[in-house]
Amino acid sequence: MVTDIVSEIVKKELGEVSVSLSSKPGLCDFQINDAFRLAKELHKAPADIASEMVDKLKNSENSSYYFESISFVNGFVNITLSNKFINDLIKNMNSKDKFGISLDNKKVVLDYGGPNVAKPLHVGHMRTAIVGEAIKRICKYKGNDTIADTHLGDYGLQIGEVIYAMKHDNVKPEDCTLEYLNEAYPRMSALVKTDDKIMDECANITKDLQEGNAEYESYLKVIKEISVSDIRRLYNYLDVSFDLWEGESDAYQYIKPVEDILNKEGLLHESEGALVVDVNEDSDTKEIPPLIFKKSNGAYLYGTSDVSTIYERESKFQPDNILYVVDNRQDLHFKQVFRTVKKAGISDAKLEFLGYGTVNGEDGKPYKTRSGDTPHLDDLFKETKDIFISKKDGNESMDDEDIRKIVNAILKFADLQNNRVNDYIFDINKFSNVVGKTGPYMLYTVLRLKKIIKEFNNIDDLSDNIYDDTDRKLRFRLITLSESFDKAYNNRLPNYLVDYLYDLAVDANNFYQNNHVIGCDDRTKQEDWVYILNVTVKVLEEMLHLVGIDIPSYM
Ligand code: ARG
Repeated sequence: MVTDIVSEIVKKELGEVSVSLSSKPGLCDFQINDAFRLAKELHKAPADIASEMVDKLKNSENSSYYFESISFVNGFVNITLSNKFINDLIKNMNSKDKFGISLDNKKVVLDYGGPNVAKPLHVGHMRTAIVGEAIKRICKYKGNDTIADTHLGDYGLQIGEVIYAMKHDNVKPEDCTLEYLNEAYPRMSALVKTDDKIMDECANITKDLQEGNAEYESYLKVIKEISVSDIRRLYNYLDVSFDLWEGESDAYQYIKPVEDILNKEGLLHESEGALVVDVNEDSDTKEIPPLIFKKSNGAYLYGTSDVSTIYERESKFQPDNILYVVDNRQDLHFKQVFRTVKKAGISDAKLEFLGYGTVNGEDGKPYKTRSGDTPHLDDLFKETKDIFISKKDGNESMDDEDIRKIVNAILKFADLQNNRVNDYIFDINKFSNVVGKTGPYMLYTVLRLKKIIKEFNNIDDLSDNIYDDTDRKLRFRLITLSESFDKAYNNRLPNYLVDYLYDLAVDANNFYQNNHVIGCDDRTKQEDWVYILNVTVKVLEEMLHLVGIDIPSYM
């Protein structure tokens, strides 16, 4: 990171002080605010200390190579880098693999997507897929070994409901279709809400299935095949991929060993007929109820399967981290699961709950179609495409793959610019605008820059000059890539990277509006600019790819 590099240089002269990116980029590049702290310790005025710091840095060995100016205002020390140093940093990042981003080497399991077999995918499932895929790619780019698992919901009540429907509708497994599932699931889920008797029957089917009922298993097999092949198709469209397509049902073989551990550790006890694990802690401000391991009717629950899945992941992969990209509303569930795992010593991995907020409509409630349904992803993709085409003077014929990339850019850039924890309002119309903080804006920017640099041969050197403010701003943005990348990686918040990319695109557009690269008659200047635009395009393309956005050939 450039902050670390500058920090090293400064520390040689000033000792332990902390250097940070300037909060006022127009004024300076970096700042040191330690004078206030030191003033108290040394009983001196902050301005005097800041002044001494400035003198020391100005008189240091390569000061004029590194710094354009060093000054102070009260206790704040402001540092501006020299043009030559900035250019050397750009050349350095451009010559290195992955722009010189520092690497990690952990084994990271990621659990995202989490579609439920037999239930159609909706907007919420798109969010975990988009955010999870971005976090995975960022982790991988950072050098980690990643294992992505969809963790299908394939053993819950919805399976019992659909099996019940099939039996009553006389639909044999071999006759089951996707259309049937899409119709039967919503019908059943409405029905069980009003009919307790049917609800009980569905719950019993689910329990019998969990206990290995062969007939029900043959139903599940077919339901799963049909449903998963549709889920795969939708994930393919979103360019979301998994190493493992395991589901809740795969965890069942690990329940026994987990139960043994829990018993050995004396953690399981009976409560109203159920077997539970107490997970509350003295420091809790809110009551955390026990994890229910086995219900009084003998059925296992969501928590049982998640604890058992961690046991499975630990024994197969010994991961350093397990990341869950799941709806915020499952926070309590994962607290119970993680605490159970830690109490029982089932895994040493760092377990991270990465919650995400709801995709809302304009009314602030979960997004629905005009007819009041939860929209299917297919319809959403089609609507996005239609709106984009209509904004782009109508009926232009475009390559399907290009359209897919544009639809992806629209939906993903809109989602990922939000901190995942927050809700956001889904407004395809706004998301598909060509101006503003949108996917199309990003794509057009990259295409425009590519068109310019195509006019030139590859340039492999950069002079010591920078030519105007927009030029300097763009170059300085380039050298701070690592700061934003690492922030996104460390916090598992892709929006830090997306914000950076948007700022970079804005800087590149401002630069390009101010400076006519193609018509420039100063050869050195022109080559410098082509070099800078090349690096800019490389950063934009490579980083957008990490958040699942690829550049179409044309739009
Ligand atoms: N299938 C779940 C749902 O739709 C999400 C699964 C999340 N992952 C997990 N290991 N529990 O709510």
